Amino acid sequence: MFSSRTDWNTTPNRLSSLAAEKRLRGESIIDLTESNPTQCEFSYPSKEILSALTEPSIVSYQPEPRGLLSARKAIAEYYAVHGIAITPEQIILTSSTSEAYSFLFKLLCNVGDEIVVPQPSYPLFEYLCQLNDITLRQYRLAYDGEWHIDFASLQAQFSHRTRAIVLVHPNNPTGSYLKQNEFDQICSLASEHHSSLIADEVFGPYDMSPDVHCANILTSQSFVPLFSLNGISKLLGLPQLKLSWIVVDGNLQQRDEALNRLDIIADTFLSVNTPVQVALPKLLRCSSDIGNQIRLRIQTNYRLLQKVFADSSTSVLRVEGGWYSILQLPQKYSDDYWAEEILTHQNILIQPGHFFDMEQKSCIVISLLSVSDLFDDALLRLQRFIEEK
Ligand SMILES: Cc1ncc(COP(=O)(O)O)c(C=O)c1O
Repeated sequence: MFSSRTDWNTTPNRLSSLAAEKRLRGESIIDLTESNPTQCEFSYPSKEILSALTEPSIVSYQPEPRGLLSARKAIAEYYAVHGIAITPEQIILTSSTSEAYSFLFKLLCNVGDEIVVPQPSYPLFEYLCQLNDITLRQYRLAYDGEWHIDFASLQAQFSHRTRAIVLVHPNNPTGSYLKQNEFDQICSLASEHHSSLIADEVFGPYDMSPDVHCANILTSQSFVPLFSLNGISKLLGLPQLKLSWIVVDGNLQQRDEALNRLDIIADTFLSVNTPVQVALPKLLRCSSDIGNQIRLRIQTNYRLLQKVFADSSTSVLRVEGGWYSILQLPQKYSDDYWAEEILTHQNILIQPGHFFDMEQKSCIVISLLSVSDLFDDALLRLQRFIEEK
């Protein structure tokens, strides 16, 4: 009755079942996987957000495949402030980054074609590929005190069916930015293999320190087709408003053709609601306020993490940016065992590293968004529990 592409195992995993049972019993759980910024006690400028969403022009519908020009102009201005020159014509609005990936997979891939994504990375890639009937291949990120692309593993993933290389900048959950020399090498590889580049830059503004030598993807004048993804779910901490975008850049000859085809894909769905498009220019003006609060929180929490686990049997892996951190726990137990024990005995929810396809043993992933007092308290309990175990 159902398609084989949706033939998933829908049974909840042991960790989710355990958490659900505890919640049913009324136990309170400290959720260190919380990555929904609206649940992390940031002080949102609610008045400004609500006023932006009640502009009179929201009652008029103008079905524009790329999105309203006023919204795209505001995005181009946002980039201009950051020294990146793009035109509103290079921008396509989507209702989420996932939808942006889906549009690009439809643009670039035939059934059975391949894309390569980093490993470890964002678990949704598997589903996005299955839903678009394409094959996921992974290139390795190696850790030696900082994360690097393993170019031998990337080279090994190419086949005549490779259509795109995905770069997550900074990556979730490794928190590593792509470096300029890595980006330059990737452009050469993509050109050699006639592949496009998809750069997911949703966590871009959330750096831990300004001296990270990260690649400037949109100012690099890439000679291969380049699609940069961004959106307000992370930039403004407003995932509920559902607005993301694709910047089409790189190889000039193919740029117009890509945009024309994306127009038709976007026109088929017209999925971005009018109120958020009308509101965007005003919303982007709040970006520094919310963004600064989030940046300060993740920087504070990362410092707390380093302090609590200094001189312990747990290592805190280096984070350059993004909202997550990876801890490597003593390797006498697996990541799954650690996660279940921590939840069972401490009522603290974390994610085992294999959820993100981590090859490093006994790693757990935590979000850095939680309120710092709560975070600090949970870390101290976690540290004590791990040492005593
Ligand atoms: C790397 C990365 N890209 C994209 C997204 C999703 O963004 P959106 O809410 O715009 O679909 C996430 C969500 O956590 C993410 O981790």
